[in-house]
Order: sequence, then structure tokens, then C-alpha cells
Amino acid sequence: MTSTKTPPTKLVRAVERVRHHLSRINQRAVPPAAAMMELIMGAWIAQLISAAAELGIADELAGGPATGEELSRRLNVDQDALRRMLRALIGIGVFRHRSDGRYELTALAETLRTDSPVSMAGMARWVGSAQHREHWSHVADAIRTGSAVVPALRGKPIFDYLADEPALAGLFNQAMTGLSESSVSAVVAAYDFSRFATIADVGGGHGRLLAAILESAPQARGVLFDLPEVVAGAPVLLRRHGVEHRIRIDPGSFFESVPEGADAYVLKHIIHDWPDDDAVRILQNVRSAARRDARVLLIEFVIPDHDRNFHGKWVDIEMLVVANARERTAAEYGQLLDKAGFRLTRVVDTVGPISILEAVAV
Ligand SMILES: C[S@@+](CC[C@H](N)C(=O)[O-])C[C@H]1O[C@@H](n2cnc3c(N)ncnc32)[C@H](O)[C@@H]1O
Repeated sequence: MTSTKTPPTKLVRAVERVRHHLSRINQRAVPPAAAMMELIMGAWIAQLISAAAELGIADELAGGPATGEELSRRLNVDQDALRRMLRALIGIGVFRHRSDGRYELTALAETLRTDSPVSMAGMARWVGSAQHREHWSHVADAIRTGSAVVPALRGKPIFDYLADEPALAGLFNQAMTGLSESSVSAVVAAYDFSRFATIADVGGGHGRLLAAILESAPQARGVLFDLPEVVAGAPVLLRRHGVEHRIRIDPGSFFESVPEGADAYVLKHIIHDWPDDDAVRILQNVRSAARRDARVLLIEFVIPDHDRNFHGKWVDIEMLVVANARERTAAEYGQLLDKAGFRLTRVVDTVGPISILEAVAV
């Protein structure tokens, strides 16, 4: 199945290789200490982007260009500090200063709008939140011990902590919906879901991926499964996509059981959240619930066999810091699936950094 909007996967991989080599040339164009300083300043860049999202600057400029005075008044922020913030961000392509002195959105800044089609506002705010920052400030400890810092710092695992922190959980869910939004077209373009009558999304969050899958498979029905406090936020999104009458919302924990009898079980960015033992338990529960001929589809950043930069290698460290979990190679996913009674049948590449690992019951 192909989509007119999605470029060929091989072309995207070739562009990635070119970008990798260009970034090496870019680094070698300055002394190593200067190149390193640029990398270190990535922390400031990310934090200022997060602050721009928190202050709602892109949302405010969505209505059209504005002067610094207008913006600072509407956002209730200090005008001089805002000017300095925008000056820094404009230098890296986020926002633009027009010749008439007003500020406006660039394509990059558009992604910080909360209502942009693929919004990164939630992701920016989650990564820049005081709590997430605190977790990452202990990354050296995580490397020393090989263990997550969240349980030691918060006294509980990350999802229990989020359950007790509704505002932070809101940012996390918004971040996940934004991430799903950025990858749904890649997933539905790469895999034909129309052959399944019932598709369960296990740990499906607010249902953004399931909505896109059902849009690509008009005869199929869906089951959205996640923790009760998470699926409580799903109906609005499902209604927005006009699929609410085709989806059953099923709250629960995948450590107890998952919905029975689906033809396909989608688990997107679920197994990467857990260490091997927990991951196998989740997959065993899927195995107990699935029909014999059902397909299990893990959608993950599969760690590739090359030394170039890859999104998933960074998310892997996030998984270590936050959840004692990890990103895995295809062979490592194959081993987990084996232990749970499945066989990995193929790995489908997408135009994004994620792949679809398809498995069947043994
Ligand atoms: C990384 S998010 C992925 C969400 C979604 N699949 C996506 O790709 O956008 C992990 C999801 O697992 C859910 N989750 C965590 N623990 C769970 C449990 N015990 N049972 C069911 N879902 C759980 C979270 O609520 C969250 O929605």
C-alpha cells in the first residue's frame, strides 16, 4: 500500500545519509571545541524552545505577525526579555523578524502551535518540564548504575508517578499524540491494515494511531486499550476523526490482560518502555488474548546496524533514564517475541525512524 503523500522509503534513507555527511562537514568546518560548544548549547536551545511553547508564542502569532510590544502585552511577559528570546530563536530558524519589525511564524515555529497538524508543542513542554529536566540531570547516575533514575527520585515507576501528577501527565499525553501524529501517515503508508476485521491498539493512548488505521481500513473496527485515566481523554480525539462509533474503548492494564479476539494487536512504543521481563509479560498477555492467526505489530525505533546518528539511539537513553527500559535491535525484539510464544515474520521499514515488526503465534 502506498500513499501519494509519502516519499519512497529508499529515497528518505538516502537523504538521511546525505544529511549525516553534511553534518560531519559542518562540524569539521570549525575547531573541535567550537563544534562541541554548539552541541552543548543544544540544552539551551531545547529549553528556550520549550519556553516558547509554554508561553504560547506560536499560538499567539498564528493570527498574524505582531510587534514585540503587542506580543509582550498579549502574553503578559517582559518585552525586553521576549525580544532577546526571539532574537536567539530567530537565529536558528524558529520565528522570523520581518522588515517592518514585526515577528512571524516560520515553518519550524508552526510546529509549536498547539493546533498545528503535527504539533511538537507537547513534546517541547514535556522534555523541557522541570520534572523531566530533573530526571535527565541524573543521567550520569543512570550510566553508572545501569538503572532508571525515576524510581529512586520519585519513589515509584514513571507511569505511577504520572498518574499522581495530572498536569505533567497531560503534557506527556499531548507529547505522545504529537509524536503519533508525526508518524501515523508513515505507518499506514507502509502497512496494509485493511485485511483485519478487528484491530486492538494496546497502550494506544488517546487513540490517534488507531483513528488513522481505521481511516485507512474503512471496514475494520478497533479496540482502544490503555490505563483508565488515559483512555478517559480519548473520546474527544476519536470524535474529531469521526471514528468513535467504530472503536470500543477498553480501560485496563496490560500486565493483567488485554482485549480478546482481535485479528491484529498494535503496540506502538510500548515494548520499548519496559525491561525484558515486563516486556515478555505484556507479550504473553497478548498471546493469551489473541486468536491463533492474529498478527502482532510492534511499532518501534529499531536500532539499526550502523554508527550514524539515529533518533532511536537518543530515545534509548530516555528509556534508560526514565523507565529502566531500552530500544532494541530487530534480533532483540525477535528474542522477546520468541519467549512470549510468537515468531517475528518480517520488519517493515517506514519513511520515519520507526519500523513495524510483524509477528505470528507459534
Ligand atoms: C510511550 S506511550 C505510547 C502511546 C501510544 N501507543 C503512542 O505511540 O503514541 C506508552 C503508553 O502505554 C500506556 N501504559 C503504561 N502502562 C500501562 C499499563 N499497565 N496498561 C496499559 N497501558 C499502559 C501509557 O498510558 C501510554 O499511553
